[in-house]
Amino acid sequence: QEDIFKKVISHAKEYGYVFQSSEIYDGLSAVYDYAQNGAELKKNIREYWWRAMVQLHENIVGIDAAIFMHPTTWKASGHVDAFNDPLIDNKDSKKRYRADVLVEDHTAKIEAKIEKEVKKAAKRFGDAFDKTQFLATNPRVSGYQNQIDTILKRLAKSLENEDLADVKALIEELEIACPVSGSRNWTDVKQFNLMFGTKLGASADTAMDLYLRPETAQGIFVNFLNVQKTGRMKIPFGIAQTGKAFRNEIVARQFIFRMREFEQMEMQFFIKPGTQKVWYDYWKEARLKWHLSLGLGEENYRFHDHEKLAHYADAAADIEFRFPFGFKELEGIHSRTDFDLGAHEKYSGKKLQYFDHEENESYVPYVVETSIGLDRMFLAVFSHALEEEELENDTNRTVLKLPAVLAPTKAAVLPLVKKDGLPEIAHQIVDELKWDFNVIYDEKDAVGRRYRRQDAAGTPFCITVDHQTLEDQTVTLRHRDSMEQQRVAIPEVGTIIAEAVDM
Ligand code: GAP
Repeated sequence: QEDIFKKVISHAKEYGYVFQSSEIYDGLSAVYDYAQNGAELKKNIREYWWRAMVQLHENIVGIDAAIFMHPTTWKASGHVDAFNDPLIDNKDSKKRYRADVLVEDHTAKIEAKIEKEVKKAAKRFGDAFDKTQFLATNPRVSGYQNQIDTILKRLAKSLENEDLADVKALIEELEIACPVSGSRNWTDVKQFNLMFGTKLGASADTAMDLYLRPETAQGIFVNFLNVQKTGRMKIPFGIAQTGKAFRNEIVARQFIFRMREFEQMEMQFFIKPGTQKVWYDYWKEARLKWHLSLGLGEENYRFHDHEKLAHYADAAADIEFRFPFGFKELEGIHSRTDFDLGAHEKYSGKKLQYFDHEENESYVPYVVETSIGLDRMFLAVFSHALEEEELENDTNRTVLKLPAVLAPTKAAVLPLVKKDGLPEIAHQIVDELKWDFNVIYDEKDAVGRRYRRQDAAGTPFCITVDHQTLEDQTVTLRHRDSMEQQRVAIPEVGTIIAEAVDM
């Protein structure tokens, strides 16, 4: 698994998707740059989301709020007081850990043990293997499973009760039972605020302390009434936005999974109080459907209903995805009640109420939010797409099977040879198609190598111009995933690609 993840990271670099930020200065930890292909893939994911959430919903509109917000915003939202990570230092290694992540690492080890047992049994039983039954009838393995549940429940409970001493005790117990850090010498657990601070204004005495926003959601809440009135929106309605968010993550690792500067795609859905359960269920379902529409495989998603709730929520669930390092949170759906709008009313002294003409009453709406990390979605799509394929003739190929709709480049146009007028025709095809899609021209190396290069870069189609093209105006259209080739008249190529990349 670790090997696969390493391959993902090096492939992302080699094919111009993701670079370490300011690499020539040895980089900055947990900060990344999107390269020429990465920027396109990221943009395509953002557009795929925007289309589903805004364009296809008559009652959802999009905004683009500033990253800087009045500092009282974060007092009201609870982030100044409650947006903390529990930290613990190891006195021997002098390493700092997020206490909850440390506990999760232990449970991941236990999970790996279960997986191993399951695999062994599956091999032994062959077709007759039934995982659920195996787990139910095998006390040792289900014992492991219970351990995980017990540990995570205890962690959730002690974090919720701010019982940091128990979090420490849990870590110490786990280190004895199944060492992860290899040491037992811990400091107490302390809370650490994740917001980045900065200053607005030039002179020292008038400068104002600001935070870089840790979530985009608050830009929507403070604009709720402006949008509702100017857009004449009727409840239920949603406001969506995408944009950067910043968190001073302590354990920043796993590539672009957890970054210090990242992008969120969030939607706040404003509803009548009392209807939150209905809308919460609705959005859980709708968001899972969106994920499934990309065809990465149903078995790679699961819901995780939260027991430990953030300071603003009365119900919360994650959509988890099977990343190369296991199932992890990809998106959150949160029932936020009137926590945010209510708090902004209190702190600003301005009414943030909606007049419901049908009910003939005013109220502070409730909110159900959907919140997904764009970078995390990128990692999900990219890592799932990367395959090392064995071919029939004892060779293999690296292929990046990105959904065509998201692929940075939709087609590469390749003249078979660099003479006889073939490059000119290829250029003409590029000039024709580039109005509708990202296409590239490539004439370097033998055509087989060019195919492999495009496979690895994730380009779903190659269009090859050869000598037959001169006679009958047809080209070879090669499909990345099946490697099938078909002969197609030049004017038809655009239509075929358009169909394949259609949202
Ligand atoms: N407005 C609610 C909110 O921000 P969250 O669970 O803290 O909720 C939502 O974040 C999503 O943002 C997560 O599911 C994840 O995809 C993404 N995310 C959060 N922190 C991140 C980080 N440090 N790096 C990358 N993505 C992150």
